[in-house]
Amino acid sequence: MAGEASLEAVRRVESAPLQDLVGLTVDDVEAQMDSLLAADVDSASLYRRWEQQQWAVSDLDFAQDRSDWQSLPAGIQQVTQHTMTLFFIGEQAVTDTLAPLLHAAPREDERIFLATQIADEARHTVFFQRFFEEVLGVGGGLHAALDAINPRATEGFRRIFEHQLKDAMDLVRREPENQRAWVEGVVTYHLMIEGYLAITGQRSLLRMLRNVGLMPGFRTGFTAVARDESRHIGFGVLALRRRVTADSEMARVIALKVLELLEPAVRTVISPDRRLPIEDPREIPEPMRVNGLELREFALSSLAKRLVAAGLSAAVVKSIRTQAEAYYEAAWSEYERNHGLRHPVRFFQEGLVSAPL
Ligand SMILES: [Fe+2]
Ligand SMILES: [Fe+2]
Repeated sequence: MAGEASLEAVRRVESAPLQDLVGLTVDDVEAQMDSLLAADVDSASLYRRWEQQQWAVSDLDFAQDRSDWQSLPAGIQQVTQHTMTLFFIGEQAVTDTLAPLLHAAPREDERIFLATQIADEARHTVFFQRFFEEVLGVGGGLHAALDAINPRATEGFRRIFEHQLKDAMDLVRREPENQRAWVEGVVTYHLMIEGYLAITGQRSLLRMLRNVGLMPGFRTGFTAVARDESRHIGFGVLALRRRVTADSEMARVIALKVLELLEPAVRTVISPDRRLPIEDPREIPEPMRVNGLELREFALSSLAKRLVAAGLSAAVVKSIRTQAEAYYEAAWSEYERNHGLRHPVRFFQEGLVSAPL
């Protein structure tokens, strides 16, 4: 049950105009995100929120961000730009692949909501284009951003975006009557890419930049992106719950798809092939530290809440979570074998370092 404080946070996030979003914490945004899992939230009310929560990339001011970016230590810049690049590519990929899901959605209210989502994803891509060009100095859009990344460092990411997402949406396009394919498409897109991968990156970036009080333009736009994503995830869970209510076999379809995507998703978050620029988190100024254990706990409990809200049993959700935790451990150990170094998360596990709450 949401307490008074979080109800107040939900109201603040729901109604904040663009310029006020910078004052919100990522915890406020996440409380609002969870509130959209409630049984009385339907696609009409998500549509109304979309009308009320419009924002424009062209209203953002990146002047302060340009000098703030230069003030970040090189290692922090590198890690931050990596996460931002994955977001940029991800937003482009989801903009390009959502249309089949809209086309194949059997219900009018679902097609209307998905039409709003396509517009949102296009706006998110434009947000990153503008940010990369004006703040990071990477013009030429997506391809230039991608070229700056070593492909081995994005192996899990490529499996998800270039294979799983593309194949899932291709099947929906070829077989629009195939209900199972549609459900698997929503699991891939709304539950795993938006509801697990995106929120993990969102939380680490927004928290770190708020703790150091830098880059207000990025934080404003990215908080608006996060608020949009909370509607998308809310819709995905609602659509899945409807299918499970109509046909309990769909709960099994959802669980199997989640299990299939879990390993590449965790490998996207950890990237065991990519050597981190700072080996010992004690060398990172405290407000910039990200505790990987806390991030895992947050991401997996968010995913678990959504799976329960979609209608999966507590026992199945628990086994998915246990499997996911093991994938994290395996990826951290693989990092250590690859580079002959301890993974920074070990310093948190051993209590040698702490990060701001
Ligand atoms: Fe998006
Ligand atoms: Fe989205």
